[in-house]
Amino acid sequence: MMHQIKIATQKPYDVCLEEAILDKAGPLLLKQFAPCKLAVIADEAPWRHYGDRLLSSLTKAGFSVMHYIFQSNEAVKSFQTVEEILQLLAENELTRSDILLSFGGGITGDITGFCAATYLRGISYAHMPTTLLAMIDAAIGGKTAVNLKAGKNLAGAFWQPALVLCDPTLLATLPETVLADGLAEAVKYGILSDAALFDASGKGTMDLTDMIARCIQIKGNILALDERDQGARRLLNLGHTIAHAVEMCSAHTLSHGAAVSIGLVASAKLAYTLGVSATDLSGSIADTLTSHNLPVDLPYTVESLLPYILKDKKRTGNFIHLILPEAIGRCRIEPLPIEQLRAVLTDALLPGGCNGC
Ligand code: GLY
Repeated sequence: MMHQIKIATQKPYDVCLEEAILDKAGPLLLKQFAPCKLAVIADEAPWRHYGDRLLSSLTKAGFSVMHYIFQSNEAVKSFQTVEEILQLLAENELTRSDILLSFGGGITGDITGFCAATYLRGISYAHMPTTLLAMIDAAIGGKTAVNLKAGKNLAGAFWQPALVLCDPTLLATLPETVLADGLAEAVKYGILSDAALFDASGKGTMDLTDMIARCIQIKGNILALDERDQGARRLLNLGHTIAHAVEMCSAHTLSHGAAVSIGLVASAKLAYTLGVSATDLSGSIADTLTSHNLPVDLPYTVESLLPYILKDKKRTGNFIHLILPEAIGRCRIEPLPIEQLRAVLTDALLPGGCNGC
């Protein structure tokens, strides 16, 4: 059975989720687009496993397909890669009635979306995410970006896809650590707004396709309230302020999911210290995450994390917006004056606390 989840952004679109939907990619795109030129921007690893099937479905449906294959990593999420793709589109004379399709994880999707947002001042694109993290987060919501030397995702645009196709069977070839990265985000959704999802993600009692559908629905509900990150969408940043700092301290040797896992536990400790949660939720969150072999202990000092936390994109003026759990399934945005940050982090995250620092 196909799950069809409507994302009610200003320009609404569907996420279609079904096992082996890969083989229906062509006919499903044909429901929205006349046969046209279609550029697939694909990560080399899923392309190696599934590229033939994707190509066959697209060409049988009548699309004239070209592809750009690359090994996705943070270093190639750059203007140089974007330029190469835009050149390919221009050399093949794609027009505004042609489309792009991303086939890969979050990096592939972000680059493809950025190219779609900028080529000819904006053309349509679709996502076919191949990692759990991209299925439940990166492919939904139209955040596109490339990195600058100064930091991750510092250049980008909001540009919603026309369609997202999720095929859970593609996850079979993912390394376990990459799958765990996605599970950290699924746990995040549970803490944000679904205690049953949180419980099931710890016990492994939920069917993977149903879990993906539930996470997408939660993100969709938030996007319907706030598409452009001015309010409720900031809730999706749960665990991420600390996570980004941890990733930077580790020089990206720790994966995003591992850093999010550490960040989720830290946010529960912060919530308890600030009186946002009546009980300390960090133990049960840590147990759930460790059941997926994710790390939970902060490997860096507050002093080494602080400079990165202060550079967080979600900082506004003299306030940092912490996302904190009140209970499992309910979170809130808590603005904290920057000058209190060091003491609060120290009290919450270091055994023994700040002691008047
Ligand atoms: N990944 C967070 C967001 O889409 O806002």
